[in-house]
Amino acid sequence: MTNASREPKPLPTWDPGTWRSYPAAQQPTWPDSDELEKVEKELASLPPLVFAGEARELRSKLAAVSRGEAFLLQAGDCAESFDGFNANAIRDKLRVILQVAVVLTYSSGVPTVKVGRIAGQFAKPRSKPTETIDGTELPSFLGHMVNDVPFSSGDRTPQAARLLRAYHQSSSTLNLLRAFTKGGFADLHRVQAWNQEFVGSSPEGRRYERLAAEIDRALRFMEAAGISSQHPEIHEADFYTSHEALILQYEEALTRRDSLTDDWYDCSAHMVWIGERTRQVDGAHIEFMRGVKNPIGCKVGPSAAAEEIVALCDALDPGREPGRLTLISRMGADAVADRLPPLLEAVRDAGHPVVWACDPMHGNTFTSDTGHKTRDLDDILAELAGFFAAHRQVGTFPGGVHLELTGDDVTECLGGGDAVATDDLGKRYETMCDPRLNARQSLDLAFRTAELLQQRT
Ligand code: PEP
Ligand code: CO
Repeated sequence: MTNASREPKPLPTWDPGTWRSYPAAQQPTWPDSDELEKVEKELASLPPLVFAGEARELRSKLAAVSRGEAFLLQAGDCAESFDGFNANAIRDKLRVILQVAVVLTYSSGVPTVKVGRIAGQFAKPRSKPTETIDGTELPSFLGHMVNDVPFSSGDRTPQAARLLRAYHQSSSTLNLLRAFTKGGFADLHRVQAWNQEFVGSSPEGRRYERLAAEIDRALRFMEAAGISSQHPEIHEADFYTSHEALILQYEEALTRRDSLTDDWYDCSAHMVWIGERTRQVDGAHIEFMRGVKNPIGCKVGPSAAAEEIVALCDALDPGREPGRLTLISRMGADAVADRLPPLLEAVRDAGHPVVWACDPMHGNTFTSDTGHKTRDLDDILAELAGFFAAHRQVGTFPGGVHLELTGDDVTECLGGGDAVATDDLGKRYETMCDPRLNARQSLDLAFRTAELLQQRT
């Protein structure tokens, strides 16, 4: 081999639109390309939803996660909805995420980096592009950013105007999140008030109340000892947004050049991720993501080969920068012990300082006898335990969890302290897409994760 052939190939030039020359999986067939183009132009003229500096701040926190100095909690809806959009639902979701975070931080002693699947999580990849009922075939529901749930041709036809509505709903969601997290709601002095009534009466709710009382006592002790607890770290929470970057026209239109660094950032969210179905290394999603400087995620399922994941890391993080890339393992409880360790080893041996997070939801979905798409909390906890065990075996850090949850008292996942049984699923099954943990099940999981984290070191 000559020296010349060993030199790395220069990367092809990138701009926010180069993805258009690559095959893009899971894209809707937009019926009106003029309309789509008009919407893209309008989106491109609207203000960014987040600032590059905030994305950089998250990136440096994720760098701490990659070193084992912090833990990532990424959580929220499977899909946000245009219907029933209101402040209370956002508040309750934030409340349960803050509760899970405080359980993790207090029990493990490491900071929790909080990232919502929120303010942009409106597009869904699907296992089949169309759905057939009684001989009628229509496009599958692809999230409210694209089309609607009812099975009619009008509802299922992609409408570009939905991209704008998604932007505006994201903007008002983000506005409210900023107010809640910086305006007193997330103050640790209010840790007891985050427990909702229906949670407080359950065993995990009472366990949370005991922990909250301890935090309260610690804060009062600080005051009594003359150490002020009036710090921004106590009064305010840092909360970041994320979603799957599926519809690339939307992401491109919100990608802006940062005036400070001249780098490109996808200003639709602080963090964006690539789904299990769109992570083809020569595909449009990887092409788009390689050029934006945000922290990015990539889902990794049980079919992933080690070389494939290392190639993904090389494409998305050639500079091996801590905090840039989070790999989100979603193997399923049965597969995690076999499938994950070889990937952990290969990525480590290739020198990529990634964050490894566990999504214990998407590999454990099944249809119940009652016809509901569901997940069993026992399987979810088993995958989490398997994820921690795999890291212990290889000597890498289990860096975080990625959850689908809601603050509402839904019955979508089975199990938990106040067990939801198969026959209960129909009672309050409200999700538009995948089944979410309710607030009690989320707390239960938080305590179990905290125990695993304590054993980590
Ligand atoms: C999701 O996170 O909602 C999702 C569709 O996940 P995955 O890409 O891992 O299937
Ligand atoms: Co989902």
